[in-house]
Amino acid sequence: MNGGCSRNWAAASATCTSNSEPAADSGPPARVITVDQLGFAYPDRRVALRDVSFGVREGETVGLIGPNGAGKSTLLLHLNGLLGLPRTRGRVEIDGLDVATPHLPEVRRRVGMLFQDPDDQLFSATVGEDVAFGPRQLGLSPAEITRRVSVALALVDLRGFEPRVPQHLSLGEKKRVCLAGVLACEPRVLLFDEPTANYDPRGRREFIALCRRLPATKLIASHDLEMILALCSRVLLLDEGRLISDGDAHAILGDEPLMLKHGLEKPHSLLHAHPHALMPASGWGPAPGPAP
Ligand SMILES: Nc1ncnc2c1ncn2[C@@H]1O[C@H](COP(=O)(O)OP(=O)(O)OP(=O)(O)O)[C@@H](O)[C@H]1O
Ligand SMILES: [Mg+2]
Repeated sequence: MNGGCSRNWAAASATCTSNSEPAADSGPPARVITVDQLGFAYPDRRVALRDVSFGVREGETVGLIGPNGAGKSTLLLHLNGLLGLPRTRGRVEIDGLDVATPHLPEVRRRVGMLFQDPDDQLFSATVGEDVAFGPRQLGLSPAEITRRVSVALALVDLRGFEPRVPQHLSLGEKKRVCLAGVLACEPRVLLFDEPTANYDPRGRREFIALCRRLPATKLIASHDLEMILALCSRVLLLDEGRLISDGDAHAILGDEPLMLKHGLEKPHSLLHAHPHALMPASGWGPAPGPAP
């Protein structure tokens, strides 16, 4: 399912160096995310999504771009059933399961979400407890929870942070703790909302390297268009709640009139040859030992 990567997250994170796009000769991968004519308005009647339809296949890494207020975060929250019902319109499915009761617990087992604002995600007294929260919800054994927490913190370069108080961390550290909490659940689908915001350049490069190795289907919302280009072969462009374009990342991000029309800019690396557009990174890792 992972284009040659192991199903085991710890091992895959340490050893798989290729992107997780599916192999070309293995037949069409299954559709993991289905969004069909999704419309949504917040309780104050502000319409945030209008008739949005797309699908994401297993192993794809898809970028979600658009100006402030386009509806990117709102869309991601729908894929995890976090905005509640009723939707104003449409269908949202993960692996064919409607993102609604009675499937919500199973959907949330399969989908991991990194929130845009880490303060929306962190609530425990210590980093260790926070990262352990998801694995505990999965009903894993105490030993496996401890192992997952340790592996996940190592993956985000926060070894030994277990006793720290989340609210006393820097913004970039908080974002890494949130990422560790998501990775510790080893979800099948990863939803990343501005994953590189507040990272220093090294952390950003290492995130990109790690993300390439993660054996999951990924949807990444960001204004960091160089990161989107580095990770995604396909992008969805949203504006005012509508899906404007869905297609090849280079074609869409390289279309300057389209980008300018929707409050964005053609990435620097597509404007001219840029020898240091993205430094190679070895990644945060490897994880401290293979899982059983
Ligand atoms: N809780 C809320 N109540 C009312 N309106 C909201 C709420 N949250 C978001 N909105 C509105 O919904 C629209 C979409 O917001 P959303 O946060 O999804 O945009 P975004 O594309 O993620 O933007 P950004 O790039 O700034 O993160 C905006 O017009 C926003 O003002
Ligand atoms: Mg947002």
